[in-house]
Amino acid sequence: MNNLNVLIVGGGGREHALAWSLARSPEVGHVFVAPGNAGTNWPANPSATDWQTRAGASCVPIETDDIHALVGFAQEQAIDLTVIGPEGALASGVVDAFQAAGLRVFGPTQAAAQLESSKAFAKLFMIENDIPTAAYGAFEDFDAARQFVRDIDKPVVVKADGLSAGKGVIVCDDGEQAEAALRRIMVKREFGESGVVVVIEERLTGREVSALAFSDGLSVALMPLARDHKRIFDQDCGPNTGGMGAFTPLPDADEGLHAFINEVLQRVIDGLAKRGTPYMGVLYAGLMLTPNGPKVLEFNCRFGDPETQCIVPMLNDSLARILIACTESRLDEMPVRWHDGACISVVLASGGYPGRYRIGLPIDGLTQAADDVVVFHAGTSQLGEQVVTSGGRVLAISAKGSTLADARQRAYEHLECVQFSGMQFRRDIGEFR
Ligand code: AMP
Ligand code: GLY
Repeated sequence: MNNLNVLIVGGGGREHALAWSLARSPEVGHVFVAPGNAGTNWPANPSATDWQTRAGASCVPIETDDIHALVGFAQEQAIDLTVIGPEGALASGVVDAFQAAGLRVFGPTQAAAQLESSKAFAKLFMIENDIPTAAYGAFEDFDAARQFVRDIDKPVVVKADGLSAGKGVIVCDDGEQAEAALRRIMVKREFGESGVVVVIEERLTGREVSALAFSDGLSVALMPLARDHKRIFDQDCGPNTGGMGAFTPLPDADEGLHAFINEVLQRVIDGLAKRGTPYMGVLYAGLMLTPNGPKVLEFNCRFGDPETQCIVPMLNDSLARILIACTESRLDEMPVRWHDGACISVVLASGGYPGRYRIGLPIDGLTQAADDVVVFHAGTSQLGEQVVTSGGRVLAISAKGSTLADARQRAYEHLECVQFSGMQFRRDIGEFR
């Protein structure tokens, strides 16, 4: 298989990282990204060295929710493989539409993606399949939900059932906060239809782990474990964001944890196959390492952002070949090898994010990064010759090193070159506490 045309659906840092990795896969001829960003556009370079991209990439002006146009584009351009980035597209059945048109696509069907698109579905599925998770209740009725919070009399987390761009999860300190959260989700409908059902969980404590794996519907191949830094400020202060940086591997992950995660992921794959909705794509478990052992907080049905920006640079095999093997149910035949060492990704965000922020600000210093450092674009767009900001998370600087400390040093050194007005970032990404 050679000279493949690949389409990536999405326009964030995750999609730039996927485009970068696929453009380094020997089988790939060209990468299209819909809609992409200012970073997902580069010429082919036949003499690329290992860390550089060989295949070219270009943006396609189609939004991720325009399934009809995406299928049409894939047919016209004879796309050989489509990779879906965001959960919204999966939940609305983009994979089903591609499959119905006879197109090769990497990602779960709408039915299998319920694991992420409905928290109530995911919780019930976990209980049915003996997957350790926080105790919970699911409610459609406000009074019943309030009574549940009063009865358990412990700190809880209140979650809107459906997708809400990471905002529908409210971690509460006491009953009063929990009732306020229920009111926001169920009465004021701050998250719209996502809040018709609410999940209330016991609040757990511990370090978090992002466990991503490739799956072909039969087996899984775990990627190196990562950790995301969700709060805006250093030392995990301030409001939650989409993720301010990530690193891999985790110094606190031992063989026991890896075995636990593999077991959990396999139970998911087997459980969904048994329901008649086999799962092919990236299966991503968000775990918490609690004093009572690891527990699953949630499943995501896609590559994580910003985890992908630190995981794909560690891949020592062709991403295209792995994804194609998944679509052909032969992942177990595929070597999935990883580099030694570590990788860290530091997000550069707009001033004011995750609240209100300005866009359209010029970005300086986007020069060719050194080997082992790559600048992934997220919220950027091209305005003539100038790259400008167009979102909350603007760039992610990923650096590989022989150790985590080495990778950190490279990322933060390169970060000095890049500048835009109001730029903010965390200084403690990859610090292990
Ligand atoms: P989720 O989208 O369910 O992973 O929730 C987003 C974030 O909320 C997680 O990464 C945790 O930081 C936090 N969270 C979710 N569920 C719990 C829980 N049961 N206990 C404590 N924190 C939680
Ligand atoms: N890093 C969190 C997510 O991708 O959902």
